Amino acid sequence: MNAIATVILAAGAGSRMKSKKPKVLHEIAGRAMVSHLLGTVTELSPEKSIVVVAPKMDDVRAEVSPAETAVQEEALGTGHAVAAALPSLNGFSGDVLILYGDTPLITRDTLDKMIATRQSDDKTAVVVLGFEPENPAEYGRLVTSKDGNLQAIVEYADASADIRQINLCNSGVMAINSAYIGDLIGALDNKNSKGEYYLTDIIEIARDQGLNCKVVVGDEKELLGVNNRMQLAEAEKIAQTTWRNKAMSAGATLIDPESVFFCHDTELGRDVIIEPNVFFGPNVTIGDDVRIKANSHIEGTTIGKGSQIGPFARLRPGAELAEDVKVGNFVEVKKSSLEKGAKVSHLSYIGDARVGTGANIGAGTITCNYDGYDKYKTDIGAGAFIGSNTALVAPVKIGDGAIIGAGSTVTKSVETDALMVERAIETQKSGWATRFRKMKKRLKK
Ligand code: UD1
Ligand code: MG
Repeated sequence: MNAIATVILAAGAGSRMKSKKPKVLHEIAGRAMVSHLLGTVTELSPEKSIVVVAPKMDDVRAEVSPAETAVQEEALGTGHAVAAALPSLNGFSGDVLILYGDTPLITRDTLDKMIATRQSDDKTAVVVLGFEPENPAEYGRLVTSKDGNLQAIVEYADASADIRQINLCNSGVMAINSAYIGDLIGALDNKNSKGEYYLTDIIEIARDQGLNCKVVVGDEKELLGVNNRMQLAEAEKIAQTTWRNKAMSAGATLIDPESVFFCHDTELGRDVIIEPNVFFGPNVTIGDDVRIKANSHIEGTTIGKGSQIGPFARLRPGAELAEDVKVGNFVEVKKSSLEKGAKVSHLSYIGDARVGTGANIGAGTITCNYDGYDKYKTDIGAGAFIGSNTALVAPVKIGDGAIIGAGSTVTKSVETDALMVERAIETQKSGWATRFRKMKKRLKK
């Protein structure tokens, strides 16, 4: 096995995205496209991993940190971008994998095939990953000879009508023998319709030098290039199908898979049941036997074994739910721990709080955690019972086993096992309603 270096091209402006943000930072399943690629190439344990960025792309640099970056001073084409990475490859000997930052769904298996093909013979200078998309659209076309060797890549903008008939397209991914890469890139020019240094031209250059170029054919699902928002949505769809299948293969039930949206890092236990219309943001871990009921939105949350969530629950970052917890409809939980068996069944906001073991939070309870400047903690003891429509004005502590009467506004800490009620005195006037109605009817006549 030769050593591997990877170069991810990410310096393009991505103008077709019509975005303030660099293209490669647009997310698929909650993760920037460029980070999907970095994650995949890391599996190959490359000796070097370089991301090519434009001069002002500090945000891309921060996203890929600590990966090494090389700066392409001006976006003069994909070949020019690879040239910007060459100084970082000085002294490297082995195979260089070039990946495009806008082609994020490629898998390690496919990269392995590329490397194996490249290494099968020393005269093979370049291996290109081709694919046959349903709609070849504006992809570059691969021109092959009868023996299957690659002769040239012709960019769509420069292709004749005949060449545009070719279905075999360029995914952009290449494996290049490091012995030849400097010469091949050095020989590029920009005499084409876009006036760019096309990486794709190295094929004809290699052929002219008597070197071999080969094609590995991959799956369209991995090789979709994202140039605009429609393609971003297509890539998201493909990625979601992959994640849904992975979840089901690992033992989760998705009642309506197409309506469940995962994040790249969602972790599910066994026998988790997910009802329709559930969305997972980043950083969610779910234990075994959890049921997520319909229409819930969950991010930055850990859910313990046997818990029941939703329908219509919102779990926000920092929600830590132990085992057998219940969070019911129209409940929002943020940065709070709910200990074993705690129940918040209806219409509540729990923020910056601890809810002790087995505590029961009545409908409409609000932890008033914010005074417009700072956030404060609410601490609810084990077995406490909070009556409906209670405002807990933080900082406040409710002792173990305490009961809070419905409708209370609690501003002072409550002792263990105490009853606390804060309520105006109720007044009842017998027959008042009847007299009121009679008076109103008389006035209407
Ligand atoms: C490119 C290929 C095309 C292929 C398609 C696959 C070339 C000339 N064309 O076209 O054959 O079918 O990808 O999706 O390579 N980039 C830079 N610096 C630059 C220009 C681009 O770093 O100066 C980066 C971009 O950030 C992007 C990648 O290279 O991640 C590809 O560039 P893009 O402009 O999207 O090329 P395509 O037109 O899609
Ligand atoms: Mg592209």
